[in-house]
Amino acid sequence: MKILGIETSCDETAVAIVTDDKKILSHNILSQMEEHKDYGGVVPEIAARAHIEVIDTLITKTMDEAGVKKYSDLDAIAVTAGPGLIGGVIVGVMVAKAISSAAGIPIIAVNHLEGHALTVRLTEDVEFPFLLLLVSGGHCQFLSVEGVNKYQKLGGTIDDALGEAFDKVAKMLKLGYPGGPIVEKLALEGDENRFKLPRSLKGRKGCDFSFSGLKTAVKREVDSIENITEQDIKDICASFQKCVGDIIKDRLKNAIQMYEDLHPNGKRLVIAGGVAANKYINKTIDEITNEYGYTRHSPPIGLCTDNGAMIAWAGVERMKEGLVDDISFVPRARWPLFADS
Ligand code: KG4
Ligand code: ZN
Repeated sequence: MKILGIETSCDETAVAIVTDDKKILSHNILSQMEEHKDYGGVVPEIAARAHIEVIDTLITKTMDEAGVKKYSDLDAIAVTAGPGLIGGVIVGVMVAKAISSAAGIPIIAVNHLEGHALTVRLTEDVEFPFLLLLVSGGHCQFLSVEGVNKYQKLGGTIDDALGEAFDKVAKMLKLGYPGGPIVEKLALEGDENRFKLPRSLKGRKGCDFSFSGLKTAVKREVDSIENITEQDIKDICASFQKCVGDIIKDRLKNAIQMYEDLHPNGKRLVIAGGVAANKYINKTIDEITNEYGYTRHSPPIGLCTDNGAMIAWAGVERMKEGLVDDISFVPRARWPLFADS
């Protein structure tokens, strides 16, 4: 089975072709970082236009590289149908619908979050169920993943997503966008104990997150330094990252207990979404997974952030379950993986 996946929900135009025996035949990502750099975040209108400009050639290139001569040689086309910036999502969905109807192949509407959730099964043999920590620019939640299309939410952020917190701290420090990788790099040379920052919700029941107090505290520290030096910036990055690590450790312990009430024997933790690329956070999490006898899995760095392979793979998983869609489905800006989020 060969499936083409299209991802256009944020600032990456990404296309890939993946097989059901876990081969990525081709994989292309065009980042719009340059277009959004001056704004310190993604500008939806600019993003949608940039997707339109490149998507056709990117699909052709991906087909050529995979050696797939015509669309009807594909078993299906999978596309991110939400959640995300609606202009971009519409671009991907319209292109996918056109190919599906012209070539007469099935179409699969993929939830972007399900793409992140299942990617690890493309690169490793991780069985269901597993505990998932999904941490990206727009999402931050613990889920119990019971199977394809079967998710239960255990907790989530009550304000900012973790990736968003990284991006906002980077913006305060004028470091550019996206902030996560830059903050992680600078933190390597910083003093993580210099600034005392709040561990929000630490010690509280449940596994929700809150990062807005932390963000405000970082802002206060930045504003209090008169002539900020490179070393000050590194120390702030390191103290922020240490604080995030402490919060995650505390929340993860509770999430494990909640998850074990549902699945006492599924001792697997998967970290997915852009922030899963962060080595420091993964190392911190290992302290807890080792303590509780869990294995930790995350996709390789290049597949943690948005990409087409994750959408193609979710398409494979859904197709195997018979979950194909009618072409009349609508793109959605908001689309929780389950009813109550
Ligand atoms: O999954 P993703 O590519 O897009 C969304 O669906 O949001 O995640 C992007 C987010 C950004 O907020 C970015 O700053 C963050 O993931 N990120 C990181 C790292 N790499 C990307 N955060 C912390 N450390 C990283 N190394
Ligand atoms: Zn994402």
